[in-house]
Amino acid sequence: MSGYVLAIDQGTTSSRAIVFSADRAIVGVGQKEFTQHFPRDGWVEHDPEDIWESVVWSVKAALKAAKLDAGDIAAIGITNQRETTLIWDRITGKPIHNAIVWQDRRTAKLCAKLRKEGKEKLVTKKTGLLLDPYFSGTKVKWLLDSVKGARKRAEAGELAFGTVDSFLIWRLTGGKVHATDATNASRTLLFNIESNDWDKALLDLLDVPAALLPEVKDCADDFGVADAEWFGAPIPILGVAGDQHAATIGQACFAPGMMKSTYGTGCFAVLNTGADLVRSKNRLLTTIAYRLDGKTTYALEGSIFIAGAAVQWIRDGLKLVKHASETGPLARTADPSQNVYMVPAFVGLGAPWWDADARGAIYGLTRNSGPAEIAKAALEAVCYQTRDLLEAMRKDWKSAGGQTVLRVDGGMVASDWTMQFLADVLDAPVDRPVILETTALGAAWLAGYKAGVWPDAAAFGEAWARDQRFEPKMAAAERKRKVKGWDDAVRRTLTA
Ligand code: G3P
Repeated sequence: MSGYVLAIDQGTTSSRAIVFSADRAIVGVGQKEFTQHFPRDGWVEHDPEDIWESVVWSVKAALKAAKLDAGDIAAIGITNQRETTLIWDRITGKPIHNAIVWQDRRTAKLCAKLRKEGKEKLVTKKTGLLLDPYFSGTKVKWLLDSVKGARKRAEAGELAFGTVDSFLIWRLTGGKVHATDATNASRTLLFNIESNDWDKALLDLLDVPAALLPEVKDCADDFGVADAEWFGAPIPILGVAGDQHAATIGQACFAPGMMKSTYGTGCFAVLNTGADLVRSKNRLLTTIAYRLDGKTTYALEGSIFIAGAAVQWIRDGLKLVKHASETGPLARTADPSQNVYMVPAFVGLGAPWWDADARGAIYGLTRNSGPAEIAKAALEAVCYQTRDLLEAMRKDWKSAGGQTVLRVDGGMVASDWTMQFLADVLDAPVDRPVILETTALGAAWLAGYKAGVWPDAAAFGEAWARDQRFEPKMAAAERKRKVKGWDDAVRRTLTA
């Protein structure tokens, strides 16, 4: 069998498909952006048909670029924006509403009410998560309560719920398979990460009928076969993981203590804690890193909602640059004597603050502040936020202390300037890999491994290669002064 594997990476702003050869070389890429819908303040939606069409388009484009047919592909691995919530009709496959995106804050009031009722402890104990609108559970409840007739139809078993992976599996298999993997399930607020199953008490708490739910499988597992109708020949789907989990695998963070941070729309730092289900005392998330051969590996995760999205705002909102890649060079020209801080709380603040009502702010502006200082503040904010996560991880788990090396990936890490600043404020080395497509690579490994055409985790990990290590260079006093300014800016932005 061929060693070619197709990774579908369905992200927040675009869908991508990448064909990898057995030696991890990228032989074809297809990518399509799609429209973001913001119907109200704090609401974010995607049209599910846009998601579907952009995926099909990207796969065809990737195969064409690779000069391969679907019949040459051994397996598909799917990775996806997590938490984004869809409900569709089991007969027609038609969604009952737009997808509610992970960034969406419409259930903030419901979360606050549940917190007030003292429910967060139970939720955290079972799921490792917090009562925040970020996760799928309250979005499911909102859909069932808001779309006419939905609850009745859900109870009658006519509807299916899924995160984006489930929706794609359903469509690709022509409605034959309704499944998800343990990592995506672990982000729903409905899944017990200790017992590795949907949890009756959580379903009751959020009024979610069990008839809606997909089957939960390992990350490398049989998820059915993509119909020949889509790409010209049937292709088995053998790997699924949420994008941050796939990136953890793609970065080969297989050993406890290893850590990666991915800078996409948001930034997500994931620390492998092995078989240890570490309970955070600092408002980080406990999550399933991956589940292979029935064995669960856990992680601590820090989620920042806005990273690359701040650069996008610099480009599209403020129109300070034409291309995102100009942001680093622009920041480099900033006046070093100014102390401008941006807190990019456009959709609230995630870990470790979890303030759904906070909104973005810029501090320290003077008459001399201009585009360069604002661009610099946006890039620095991402680094300061990563530092906040790392500090919380060090407090939560002793093994995360000391010699932490952070493996980074995602669009923003192409900027040397940003990576040097990151190492400086973290006071820890930062490793940038040769293959930056780690999310897709992780999904490809799951599928290739399950298909028997890619090596096992150990051999895959050994092949991980570094492009560059950024060592901290900033003087301790300077770091302290800068971090203090950041802490102060965050304090002024928080609503509670
Ligand atoms: O939890 C949300 C995350 O999975 C989205 O990732 O890469 O689309 O920003 P990304």
